[in-house]
Amino acid sequence: MAPANVHPGSGSPQQQPSAERRLNSLVRHLLPSSPRRTAESSSATLESSPTMASQVASVFAGIAQAPEDPILGVTVAFNKDPNPNKVNLGVGAYRTEEGKPLVLNVVRRAEQMLINDPTRYKEYLPITGLAEFNKLSAKLIFGADSPAILENRVATVQCLSGTGSLRVGGEFLARHYHEHTVYIPQPTWGNHPKVFTLAGLKDVRYYRYYDPATRGLDFKGLLEDLGSAPNGAIVLIHACAHNPTGVDPTLDQWEQIRQLMRSKSLLPFFDSAYQGFASGSLDKDAQSVRMFVADGGELLMAQSYAKNMGMYGERVGALSIVCRSADVASRVESQLKLVIRPMYSSPPLHGPSVVATILKDSEMFKEWTVELKAMADRIISMRQQLFDALKARGTPGDWSHIIKQIGMFTFTGLTSEQVAFMRQEYHIYMTSDGRISMAGLNAKNVPILADAIHAAVTQLK
Ligand SMILES: Cc1ncc(COP(=O)(O)O)c(C=O)c1O
Repeated sequence: MAPANVHPGSGSPQQQPSAERRLNSLVRHLLPSSPRRTAESSSATLESSPTMASQVASVFAGIAQAPEDPILGVTVAFNKDPNPNKVNLGVGAYRTEEGKPLVLNVVRRAEQMLINDPTRYKEYLPITGLAEFNKLSAKLIFGADSPAILENRVATVQCLSGTGSLRVGGEFLARHYHEHTVYIPQPTWGNHPKVFTLAGLKDVRYYRYYDPATRGLDFKGLLEDLGSAPNGAIVLIHACAHNPTGVDPTLDQWEQIRQLMRSKSLLPFFDSAYQGFASGSLDKDAQSVRMFVADGGELLMAQSYAKNMGMYGERVGALSIVCRSADVASRVESQLKLVIRPMYSSPPLHGPSVVATILKDSEMFKEWTVELKAMADRIISMRQQLFDALKARGTPGDWSHIIKQIGMFTFTGLTSEQVAFMRQEYHIYMTSDGRISMAGLNAKNVPILADAIHAAVTQLK
């Protein structure tokens, strides 16, 4: 029960807690003076008059307006644009040919099954999440016959999608790994540096990855930079469909990267946000990771189901740490719990239950792979359509990178001025680095985009 002197109007000024006294004195100070305002009348006024309460200075008055997130801010600007023909190619979320978000049929079916099951409760999950989901997730990325899984050397914890997995992994490394230098590709997903810095890995450095001249991989630069990294440094690797460039190493190049990294004991931290989205095949898109697991060495893996199962808002993901032995894996898991417990205590139940329902049922799994391939194929066909449309317009430049790059994004090579021009004149929205989400394209808006690119390239050189 609230103490009597906190109840509005019930106490003398001496009895009031100091914060309330300060507030009332502020109100007395700010309100037009009326003769002999009592504590009772001023607190009653404060409660009953929102206008007057809003005249009291905020304790947060000095806070500066933060800038919008560079990626999510594109959608904020898009939503404010009243133009009916606007096109959002900013955020990496799949859209149908009709430009609508997609919930996979298999996901709807799994959700229905869960809803119809009266034995299901809403109890807390353990700190590490849904055990069945964790096992199936490790199997999905490492392969069912992975030696690391068979030997019980993998510690997997359910996390809040890919971002949460990176964050938990980062904090675990900051607490328990001797080297705090983390190398990330230049360029990379905009959230990577912030996630790692705030996790406690303060020394974030870049390794060369993309060559603007070839619009392909700067393989020589990559090898040089990793070759001169301190032994033991952490290296963030996009498992497939590199964001934002859509440029991945070949298998041969992966092998050379692996040899170099292992020779210097660099610790791989894989980020797999697009398994199945790059090629349409879950196994093919996991090849880079499996090469590193096959050599028996250790690594971290952040997995997301946002894109490949369309579970964006459900925040379903997993962090796996592949260790040298089952004993180490068990101790690693015990420490991961200590990272997670004070952060969000335990993860959500619904999303991983849906994913586990699909992954464990061979028929539903098959249905998922067919739907996943259909999404990947639609994106691939958009690449061809955009390339053909630019060719048909005779747009200056070599646009073959549009069909060579893979995954959700094309790194167009457009300058930030050209991007701003396309937003202004054509209401086409993309990140200022010229990245477009191919998943937002369809037969209707490809010609609009091609016109806009043509105008931007010819008018702003
Ligand atoms: C490379 C990469 N990593 C991680 C993520 C995190 O995604 P989420 O937290 O939605 O799973 C994204 C999302 O765009 C990404 O592109």
